[in-house]
Amino acid sequence: MQARDAAAVADLATQLGYPSSEVEIADRFGALKDRRDARVLVGEGSNGAIVGWIHMQITESLESGARAEIWGLVVAEPARGAGVGKALVEAGERWALSSGLKVIVVRSNTIRLEAHKFYEHLGYQVIKTQKAFRKRL
Ligand SMILES: CC(C)(COP(=O)(O)OP(=O)(O)OC[C@H]1O[C@@H](n2cnc3c(N)ncnc32)[C@H](O)[C@@H]1OP(=O)(O)O)[C@@H](O)C(=O)NCCC(=O)NCCS
Repeated sequence: MQARDAAAVADLATQLGYPSSEVEIADRFGALKDRRDARVLVGEGSNGAIVGWIHMQITESLESGARAEIWGLVVAEPARGAGVGKALVEAGERWALSSGLKVIVVRSNTIRLEAHKFYEHLGYQVIKTQKAFRKRL
């Protein structure tokens, strides 16, 4: 991703269910772009338009150590089913491997049944089902 992609990435984040403005995405990308533990990759259509993005993040916890996680993935509705999602995940996997990691985790809302089939098709296995909690401070 580059800064100029912010509007298209914001559009797709909104499609994913996370309403975001161009300015918000530009700010968040600005905070991520130079970090070694984060990578945002975009997929481009033949006309150069952004048709998908993936956010990869390396997380490090006491109980599991370092691993790569897919923190966001979306492909524009008209571009789905054409291999863009797979290409983005494979690019994310290459980045994780090149960062020395051998495991990728992805958490996906229980309602995203099609995404679950997609991940399973790409070799990902369900390891558990969780509840997510939030508290406003
Ligand atoms: C999930 C998503 C990223 C998949 O991207 P995509 O570009 O449509 O998927 P691809 O065309 O790359 O599919 C790759 C492979 O998975 C298979 N696949 C994709 N969706 C599938 C489904 N619902 N059931 C079974 N197989 C599926 C494809 O047939 C293809 O198989 P092949 O490589 O053997 O030809 C896309 O549908 C999307 O953005 N969905 C909405 C947002 C979302 O749910 N994101 C995930 C959040 S965790």
